[in-house]
Amino acid sequence: MSAADTLDDLLACPRCDAPLAPASDTWRCGGCEVDFPRLAGIPWLFAEPNAALGEWRGRLHFSLQRLERDRQQLAAALKDTALRPATRARLDDLERATRDHGERLRTLLAPLAIEQHAASYETHLALRTRLPVDQGLTTYYANIHRDWCWGDAENAASFDVLATLLGGADPGRVLVLGAGAGRLAYDLHVRTTASLTAALDFNPLLVMVADRVTRGATLELYEFPLAPRGAAAVLRALAAPAPARAGLVHVLADAHRPPFRRGAFDTVVTPWLIDILPERFDVLCARVNTLLRDGGRWLNFGSLSFHDPDPALRYGLDECRAVLEEHGFGDVAVEEREMPYLSSPASRHARRERIVSWSARKRRGAKKVPRHHALPEWLVRGTEPVPLGDSFRSQAAATRVHAFLMTMIDGRRSIKDMAKLVVDQGLMSGAEAEPAIRSFLIKMYDDSRRGTTY
Ligand SMILES: C[S@@+](CC[C@H](N)C(=O)[O-])C[C@H]1O[C@@H](n2cnc3c(N)ncnc32)[C@H](O)[C@@H]1O
Repeated sequence: MSAADTLDDLLACPRCDAPLAPASDTWRCGGCEVDFPRLAGIPWLFAEPNAALGEWRGRLHFSLQRLERDRQQLAAALKDTALRPATRARLDDLERATRDHGERLRTLLAPLAIEQHAASYETHLALRTRLPVDQGLTTYYANIHRDWCWGDAENAASFDVLATLLGGADPGRVLVLGAGAGRLAYDLHVRTTASLTAALDFNPLLVMVADRVTRGATLELYEFPLAPRGAAAVLRALAAPAPARAGLVHVLADAHRPPFRRGAFDTVVTPWLIDILPERFDVLCARVNTLLRDGGRWLNFGSLSFHDPDPALRYGLDECRAVLEEHGFGDVAVEEREMPYLSSPASRHARRERIVSWSARKRRGAKKVPRHHALPEWLVRGTEPVPLGDSFRSQAAATRVHAFLMTMIDGRRSIKDMAKLVVDQGLMSGAEAEPAIRSFLIKMYDDSRRGTTY
């Protein structure tokens, strides 16, 4: 790594884009007067550092509560004296593993200081950079075990895709956005001539595992296979083939506000990321363009399955190519390959994915990217009228009906009794009431019976 290739020279404020100045063990933005700390030695570069800490504490708290609830459910099931010996043994193992798993998560994530959960939970301003609700601490938990235990074949295949796209070229300074548990960033760093590899993700569990393992630690965490072939919880030893050489740095930050200077990187890699970010693909293209130096390359791979609420933005591959070109990229080379995905030896389930990869070279700059706001002003400030769009209108109507249905559940009324009340209230016609109530209650019933996966 040359003197020019340290993280300090690449960092910019995720709030205002001014260069960050190192200050003892933190970084400071002189303009915003905000300090960005380290957590367990890892740069914590969220635009609202305290609020992000509050959010992740909240998510850890939630995960631990859910584990404890599951453990209690297992303990209650074990009280049944008529259990078959094999069932008792399975439940017993799972109860012990669930308890132990909670302890291990608590210990690993001790730097989040969960005991301060209530004290510093998010401020209103923090809502501007709020984390998406569908991203829990354990949303991509399975990736940890694939990356650092049983996933050699999948990890090698992923690296092979990138190596093919690179075609032997020096990747220089690399940014991996949404690096997850970090195996691909590690492989890129140790198996190429990358001078610096910044592996960015916003999930502290994944990043703390990645950071520790790539420094040479062995961690033990449970895998909870989706469809167990044997044990429902398997204690795995997680380790890298060897400690990474200098220059692999993990960063906790939001990909929507990457804390880096314009043109900081020669290569940006987006593995399994572009279709899970809530922002439109066009904006991501402009953002990646900004992060790259002129002539730098964007390497993408993973699924291509956009879920934007606007159907016009659920792009196919041809549209992605067009958007890339509109945002300053040329020499676009695309490859499709079928690969196994999360094929754990402990599970009967596994996926095969036809993944899409591309290499695209920055030919010219793109339009300035607007600063990402997770939520609109009327939600953040609370002083503007809440807009009553079609979607809110129909959600409000559905919520009224659902609330009414829930209040009717008193342990005595049947579906027919409820249907009569709903018709009397003028909420539905006689023909629609009974089937509508039944399907609502089926959903509630299914929800109440759904097991947990980690
Ligand atoms: C499908 S996983 C892929 C993980 C990893 N690239 C891999 O291939 O195993 C998506 C990753 O993106 C991360 N992620 C999602 N939204 C993010 C955001 N706004 N900022 C940073 N990371 C994000 C998640 O935490 C997760 O690790």
